[in-house]
Amino acid sequence: MNATYQAKKFNLSGLNGISDQTLEMHFKLYEGYVKETNVLQEKISAILKDGKVDQEEMPAYSELKRRLGFEYNGMVLHEYYFGNLKKAGGGDPKRGSAFVKATEESFGSYDIWKTDFVGIGKMRGVGWAICYQDPTTGRLSNHWITLHEIGNVAGYTPVLVMDVWEHAFILDYKPAERPKYIEAFFSNIDWGAVEQRTQAPAQKSQRARAV
Ligand SMILES: [Fe+2]
Repeated sequence: MNATYQAKKFNLSGLNGISDQTLEMHFKLYEGYVKETNVLQEKISAILKDGKVDQEEMPAYSELKRRLGFEYNGMVLHEYYFGNLKKAGGGDPKRGSAFVKATEESFGSYDIWKTDFVGIGKMRGVGWAICYQDPTTGRLSNHWITLHEIGNVAGYTPVLVMDVWEHAFILDYKPAERPKYIEAFFSNIDWGAVEQRTQAPAQKSQRARAV
């Protein structure tokens, strides 16, 4: 029996450059991912109930499992995304913070990290820009995620998650104006949340990955 997920509530009204209308629509989409994740888990549980996956159940079982990766990551990534936004957020992250130190160690500077992250956000296609931290070395790396499930790095911690599906901005910007949305996203980042997700590189140095 799988646990049933409940959609979380996020109080983000009044963001800069991302309208309440967009957020309302986006929350509904997110709730859809939570619902579908629960429905898929339930259907998979029903197949497993007799302790086996019969040969004739295999096509349906396979399709449910494939869809689970999409819906599950859709649910989780939206929680990270909404969770790293806040009203009156933005600005630059604090110098000396674990996150900024990690950008310096991993990219040379925060500005180069940002160039890479924004560059990913501008890539054509449907997906996400995600800054991950390797829990073993403390190093950051930025990744393009296609859809919700393709490109996530197993075991890494998402520290900053940006939705660049068009639904994230289409009510506020034209499709070609994605850079304006990215600018708006940066002006609303909850750097406190990012900092909480980031582990200080200093704590990690003893566990640096052998090369
Ligand atoms: Fe989204």
